[in-house]
Amino acid sequence: MIDEELLNELNKQLNSELYSAYLYLSMAAYFDYKGLKGFAHWMKKQAQEEVEHAMKFYEYINDRGGRVVLEAIEKPPTDWKTVTDVFRHALEHERRVTERIHRLVDLARKHDDKPTEVFLIWFVEEQVEEEKMFSEILQLLEYAGETPQAILMLNAHLAQRK
Ligand code: FEO
Repeated sequence: MIDEELLNELNKQLNSELYSAYLYLSMAAYFDYKGLKGFAHWMKKQAQEEVEHAMKFYEYINDRGGRVVLEAIEKPPTDWKTVTDVFRHALEHERRVTERIHRLVDLARKHDDKPTEVFLIWFVEEQVEEEKMFSEILQLLEYAGETPQAILMLNAHLAQRK
């Protein structure tokens, strides 16, 4: 049976992944409203990925005989000053998620829960990818200085996300 403290933290992470989905959907809505359909599409895909992350926690908690407890999801922000600000915010958010995942690994180790530690490895690796993806887009935006040409080019590029 999984330790109670660890189970609570896994449930919190499930909630946090759903918040990530909500945050990126809010960013998508911001871009859709501004007519930046490529950016919006990219964020909607990201929101879907976050729901998949949440479901990994859901299934894992069940597999270990724990109970999934769904709590309220925090309201995400709805406005940002610029496109660059959106990506800056997203990258900061992902860095916080990485810290949370690392703390979870520490907790699994503290309880000598090897299955949970192994389960979390996928997330440790995924966070490297997530941070990389957001930093690369942010770097392009900062480099281009948000000229209309750069925004339109990036908009077309991001529309291709599968
Ligand atoms: Fe679920 Fe973006 O990490």
